[in-house]
Amino acid sequence: MIEDFDVTSDWHVAAPYDFLRRLRRERPVFRSEHLGAYVLTRYADVRAAYGDPRRFSSEGSLTISRSLTRETREKLGEHGSFLSSFVANVDPPDHTRLRRSVSKAFTPRAVAAMEQQFRRLNEDLLDRLEPRGSADFVGEIGHEPSIKLTARFIGVPEADEAFVQAHVKDWFQLFLSPQPPERQLELADSFLTYLDYVDRLVASRAKDPQDDFTSLMTSLIGAELTHREVVELISTILLGGNDTVPNQLGNTVLRLLREGAWPVPPELVANAAEECMRIDGASLGSFRYAVTDIPLHGVTIPAGALVLLSTDSAAHDESVFPEPERFLIDRPNAAEHLVFGYGIHFCVGAALGRLQLRTALDVLGRRLPGLRLVPGAPVAHRRSIVGRGLTSLAVEW
Ligand code: HEM
Repeated sequence: MIEDFDVTSDWHVAAPYDFLRRLRRERPVFRSEHLGAYVLTRYADVRAAYGDPRRFSSEGSLTISRSLTRETREKLGEHGSFLSSFVANVDPPDHTRLRRSVSKAFTPRAVAAMEQQFRRLNEDLLDRLEPRGSADFVGEIGHEPSIKLTARFIGVPEADEAFVQAHVKDWFQLFLSPQPPERQLELADSFLTYLDYVDRLVASRAKDPQDDFTSLMTSLIGAELTHREVVELISTILLGGNDTVPNQLGNTVLRLLREGAWPVPPELVANAAEECMRIDGASLGSFRYAVTDIPLHGVTIPAGALVLLSTDSAAHDESVFPEPERFLIDRPNAAEHLVFGYGIHFCVGAALGRLQLRTALDVLGRRLPGLRLVPGAPVAHRRSIVGRGLTSLAVEW
């Protein structure tokens, strides 16, 4: 029987649900030695903690750099605490100010305007791939349109897209997934090269503003934002856009194919996307620090302790989602999942993420109605503390 989380094991991402169910029932405030954190697993507790930033602080919660070796830290120098001023990593009042600035780029009108672009990117990709009859969904279909959309949104020139993509992958690995010491040093090199690139992008927009996110944020330097905050925002939004949405799309397509629910009828696409986010969320949860001693269900979380709010468990909480392990394409409350978080840090890109998922399902369903899994091809997940995504997914049509 599983006794603790283990990010080095496949089950941690692929199939944690029996373990999580037991925690919800028996140990709703679980002290994980492996994660070095208390874990909240019940929906009501996870939601309440997100909604209580005074007691559950985000300050430093993303900086999981404590797994970095001393050598890697030395190499990174001042950047060892990268993300320290990123919007998801700070509390009010800094958070309020940063969030206000970022939100300027995610107005409903700006998000809606991206739909046509995203649709076109998917159609173009399929024009190229369709005649082949098979592909790796993760490597060849799922990522490209989101990466290109995000790059254009940020203002990364098309010629630099591949470079940026490779480096974003590296820094994600460096900061958010466990790596052996030698690999850490390589990744740190890559990360520094990338930071230098973003710096130059900001400098060029300061001189010659365009209609993009980088220009909008750069114009706020001095007034509302610092240079470092802008660099961190751009870097993390590149990650948010490059990785989470494609991961969610891969999980979603795998689920729909396994359930025999492909192609999804247009009128069910929106709810199907929510149910897939609920049952196979691309985000496993968020970390917080306890600000004071927090008594809960007979346990006291001590001040200063790290706490994982397990949205993955919340999404499978039987008290909110009856028969949680069943996929119900028309589940009435599917959208109540917390995969985008909740409260003041609620994902600023949620509307854009949802728009991409729905658009991709719509275009893919229409263009590849015969999509199916390649029989016998292995399905493996990436190892990660906070994310769920596939390493590859062999499909044919
Ligand atoms: C399916 C895709 C996505 C998932 C599952 C996801 C998940 C999340 C979660 C769980 C949080 C809350 C973090 C916390 O409370 O600690 C968050 C925040 C955030 N997300 Fe997303 N996200 C997605 C897509 C995106 C996209 C497309 C963007 C931008 C283009 C984005 C940008 C952000 C930003 C900037 C924050 C910080 C907001 C704040 O702290 O106020 N995300 N996201």
